[in-house]
Amino acid sequence: MTGVTSIDRAFQAATARLKAATRIMALTGAGVSAESGVPTFRGPEGLWRQFRAEDLATPEAFERDPRLVWEWYASRRERLAPLLPNRAHAALAALEGRVPGFLLATQNVDGLHAAAGSRALVELHGSLWRLRCVGECGQAREDRRVPLPELPPRCACGGLLRPDVVWFGESLDAGAVSRAFGAAESAEVVLVIGTSSLVFPAAALPQAARARGAFVVEVNPEKTPLSALADVSLRGRAAELLPALLEAAA
Ligand code: OAD
Repeated sequence: MTGVTSIDRAFQAATARLKAATRIMALTGAGVSAESGVPTFRGPEGLWRQFRAEDLATPEAFERDPRLVWEWYASRRERLAPLLPNRAHAALAALEGRVPGFLLATQNVDGLHAAAGSRALVELHGSLWRLRCVGECGQAREDRRVPLPELPPRCACGGLLRPDVVWFGESLDAGAVSRAFGAAESAEVVLVIGTSSLVFPAAALPQAARARGAFVVEVNPEKTPLSALADVSLRGRAAELLPALLEAAA
């Protein structure tokens, strides 16, 4: 007995790779915000009234009943407005400051990475805090008002406003996808934190990086489809594990 567990070895392997790397990419999902109080999509709290996210976050649902879709988004905005970034968000913002080739790609629309100070940031699925006109003008702008004065909100041009997030059946912003895949193609280490790794194209980012020889580190309390492919799967909560890992690698 050496007293060194496989968990210690996995942690040390990840630390060594992170320490040596000059190009790191991080991919986050709802789990990184769990300790801030944001509900995950697929957990027990993933239901709103009798609806699943998949039934409301679609262009068809918005066309059919924009008010119902907006009531859901308004309730999410109200729930998220007072929440603060946690130690995992802060650790990623600090990592950006010390690694020259760093990019954080997030699937989250909660704005907490930006609130923590991350700037090398791609919000793959958009932001709850930006509204986009579906009418003539098509303009998108930040709007943090909670509550919104009317549901559904309207643009100055008269068109309906929608949340500037990616819905099921829609394509992601091409520029955001290309930035994220560019980083995945050059990263030496890819950190994958708090995502079920079920939704594409985000789930393809660590796969593409791993296929090219990048070292993939997963941080998640549960096993996911990525776990078998990752070089290291650290089981635990992002707000505890990630600061410890990144401090050890500093
Ligand atoms: P999910 O809700 O699918 O998965 C959340 C993941 O976080 C799970 O794997 C949990 O085990 C993990 N988790 C829970 N608590 C955690 C903690 N404290 N620390 C670390 N991990 C934790 O959320 P996403 O993978 O983000 O897309 O979902 C991806 C996309 O599916 C979302 O962006 C959204 C949704 O449909 C769109 O809306 C387009």
